[in-house]
Amino acid sequence: MTVRRYKKWISFAVAVTMFGGAVSVHASGNPDAGEAQAAACGACHGQDGASPIDPSYPHLAGQNERYLLNQLKMIQNDTRNIALMAGQLNGKTEQDLADLAAFYASLPAKSSQAIGDDSAIRTGQRIYRAGIARKGVAACIACHSPDGSGNQQAGFPRISGQPSAYIIAQLTAYRERVRATDESLGGMMRGVAEGLTDTEIALVADYIQGLN
Ligand code: HEC
Ligand code: HEC
Repeated sequence: MTVRRYKKWISFAVAVTMFGGAVSVHASGNPDAGEAQAAACGACHGQDGASPIDPSYPHLAGQNERYLLNQLKMIQNDTRNIALMAGQLNGKTEQDLADLAAFYASLPAKSSQAIGDDSAIRTGQRIYRAGIARKGVAACIACHSPDGSGNQQAGFPRISGQPSAYIIAQLTAYRERVRATDESLGGMMRGVAEGLTDTEIALVADYIQGLN
């Protein structure tokens, strides 16, 4: 559980950002074809991809295309088990998933507001920007960027503006190793989350909800 373990991934993110054209693999999704399939998704995620019917459901609008495609594949093959989405991706081809990813990536991200008091927001911000060195928690900013928009080329997700209930659920799922979708990335988010207490998760989640 050391920050060092993530250094190679952070350098990787920097490298793909700088030399993105050469090394990144882009899904060639068609947003219009994605929109044509998205009505069913809108029932839960909102027609604009950012007005979920339940505050614990994620925004998809403005999410990085590459991240979205990866998650859709993992939801489809049950590597990421989402009971509520059972059947939603049945029969979809990889091209269909790429089209859906391109559609949601093309929509404008929506942000929200932190609800904590000033001191709570400052603590959340400190974790976001600096991590928690004494526990080996890497700074979120290194991979998710200062404004929380992630890193498109590395496939690191946008997290700014996500509802705090969703962020809390995901950080807890990584910590408890229930979510293991970061397997191909060396378990990097499980490694980050394992050092966080419930209180720290709640504080950083509220900060991220208001970040834009
Ligand atoms: C019945 C409600 C429901 C429907 C319909 C639905 N979803 Fe979801 N979706 C969810 C929930 C709930 C989650 C988050 C589950 C969790 O906590 O991990 C989710 C998560 C996702 C994620 C992961 C987001 C992230 O940030 O990692 C993607 C991508 C996604 N849905 C895409 C879709 C698409 C595309 C469709 C339509 C083909 C769709 N969903 C239909 C409820 C739904
Ligand atoms: C070394 C890079 C790295 C660092 C540092 C990092 N993350 Fe992540 N994060 C990722 C990657 C990559 C994913 C997607 C992994 C996957 O596919 O499950 C992710 C996923 C997430 C998700 C789930 C997004 C979604 O839409 O479901 C949340 C929430 C999150 N990170 C929050 C944080 C917070 C909070 C911190 C700081 C305490 C942090 N991350 C630090 C790389 C990082």
